[in-house]
Amino acid sequence: MIWHPIGVARPVILLLSGPNLNLLGDRAPEVYGTETLLDHVTASRERANSQEFDLEHIQSNHEGDLIDAIHAARKRVAAIVINPGALTHYAWALHDALEAYEGPIVEVHLSDPAKRESWRHLSVVEPVATASIVGKGGAGYVEAIDIAIDACTKINE
Ligand code: DQA
Repeated sequence: MIWHPIGVARPVILLLSGPNLNLLGDRAPEVYGTETLLDHVTASRERANSQEFDLEHIQSNHEGDLIDAIHAARKRVAAIVINPGALTHYAWALHDALEAYEGPIVEVHLSDPAKRESWRHLSVVEPVATASIVGKGGAGYVEAIDIAIDACTKINE
């Protein structure tokens, strides 16, 4: 049985994208690839839909918008998949908002921050995440959706 909040017809996965990810495809393609954010969202949605989940997506360049979206996800959304962009490395308010969310959280990064500049080595999201998928490009998004759905399914086993 798949866990999801009472009263919700079809479970929802919330995909959150942090600052500068709206520039994917154009921004540092040698690091992040040539696919756009829409490409990743479309692939994620197709994977979620194939397993009877809906997918909502929010991209924001503002930490507060992402925190508001996480608050609004409480008791409503079955799981969160998040690429917080550079907020990953210092945004403790984002960590606290995610910690207050009761469902599974999967962190995803196109690149592997641990293999880049030292300031990218810390993730404030990792301590509250069920899993962190790094360095797999667009395939990482689909894998993150699978892990999120798997975690939802296991909650009631
Ligand atoms: C990123 C990695 C972050 O360090 C960076 O600030 C990003 C993208 C990734 O997907 O690889 O904006 O989250």
